[in-house]
Amino acid sequence: MAAPWSPSSWRTKPILQVPEYPDPDLLQDIEKQMRSFPPLVFAGEARKLKAKLAEVAAGKAFLLQGGDCAESFMEHHPDNIRDFFRVFLQMAVVLTFAGGKPVVKIGRVAGQFAKPRSDETETRNGVTLPSYRGDIINGIEFTEEDRLPDPRRLLKAYRQSAATLNLLRAFAQGGYANLEHVHEWNMDFIKDSPAGGKYEELANRISESLKFMRACGISPENTPQLQQTSFFTSHEALLLGYEEALTRIDSTRPGSHEWYATSGHFLWVGDRTRQPDHAHVEYLRGIRNPIGLKCGPSSTPDGLLQLIDKLNPENEPGRLTLICRFGAGRSEKHLPGLIRAVEREGRQVVWSCDPMHGNTTKAETGYKTRAFNAILQEVNEFFDIHRAEGTYPGGVHVEMTGKDVTECTGGARLITDQDLSSRYHTHCDPRLNADQALELAFAIAERLKRERDEKDAAVITVPLSAGQA
Ligand code: PEP
Ligand code: CO
Repeated sequence: MAAPWSPSSWRTKPILQVPEYPDPDLLQDIEKQMRSFPPLVFAGEARKLKAKLAEVAAGKAFLLQGGDCAESFMEHHPDNIRDFFRVFLQMAVVLTFAGGKPVVKIGRVAGQFAKPRSDETETRNGVTLPSYRGDIINGIEFTEEDRLPDPRRLLKAYRQSAATLNLLRAFAQGGYANLEHVHEWNMDFIKDSPAGGKYEELANRISESLKFMRACGISPENTPQLQQTSFFTSHEALLLGYEEALTRIDSTRPGSHEWYATSGHFLWVGDRTRQPDHAHVEYLRGIRNPIGLKCGPSSTPDGLLQLIDKLNPENEPGRLTLICRFGAGRSEKHLPGLIRAVEREGRQVVWSCDPMHGNTTKAETGYKTRAFNAILQEVNEFFDIHRAEGTYPGGVHVEMTGKDVTECTGGARLITDQDLSSRYHTHCDPRLNADQALELAFAIAERLKRERDEKDAAVITVPLSAGQA
């Protein structure tokens, strides 16, 4: 029997990565206020996402999860949200078209504010201050005032998440995602890049198909799937006081005792806070949303099974996504053992690849960066290993933006170490720019297509050889 759970039971457990608020009374006050705020998402939506992820677990759909490493108050602008959404749609269209599978779309957005840090403090020129922990906690400026955790930031993050989600819902359902607009999602600054050019070709083919379908009587006016899309939100469940305040019983099911996080559809636990007897795992085990677990070089097969027992004791498909982030060249050492343990015990999971967090380096110029080739290599290793193990590589998890930033090096429109300073805007980890994100989507689509073609070929040869026997 599992121990009793409540939205606040995490408070009795050891916890890492907690900010030290100078005014705990104000924090309590604000968390109390937030308990009566409207939920940002509904339980029914979280269940819908869980059902879609169950399709991914069964190998029938592919998961695309991506967005900022850390959203910021400063970058809160409709153009940023729109540009992120259109690149995300482009990636999804590329993957759907080539992979021939529905793509489940989850943004790291509308709530991705709190950041775990390796060091409690940061020292510059002999001055030591608390580390920046994300805009929901403190400010990024290297001043004593900014770095002090301020509970009022929870309110601002909540309001920003609500506004962001509102616009994303409008884009997804109000006509912007209509497939007849497939050309308009291609932004001017990527049109002349190799990925942008390839996208134009693909968009032409989609437009042709849509014209044909329209002639047959199928159009966005009578087929909602062509004019709108499902889009979900996610973030790391790190700041548990915030999460607790937004954890609610499903009000649409009278008498239900099911608790849902309503700060986003999908929440995950990070690489630094996934200790099985600690607070973050305690919180996540009790909510009914689909959840994610980051797996890194310190994950062991037994440790993983122990966490799966806690987080998905009923072995519900779609409930748990394992987000693997080992680093290029290191997957072979870690991933096969984890896959075999999960397969041996018959656990239903979605396997997703985060090729970002194991590949962070420091450029000679001092910028934190990631090389496009290393990212691509880890994705390819992920596909190769699943192929060898006979399991399904279900998705990818990337840090990206719709802007023309210079944060990751490489890509077809080459960004060098020297270019990084030109448009380096991230508040935390380096993101793929729109062009690099699209290029990565094409590379993944190639892999999906290959797997599909090989599967089709296998289906054709089986009856032939059976007939010969
Ligand atoms: C992140 O996803 O931004 C992150 C901090 O990842 P990880 O927990 O895998 O290091
Ligand atoms: Co990150």
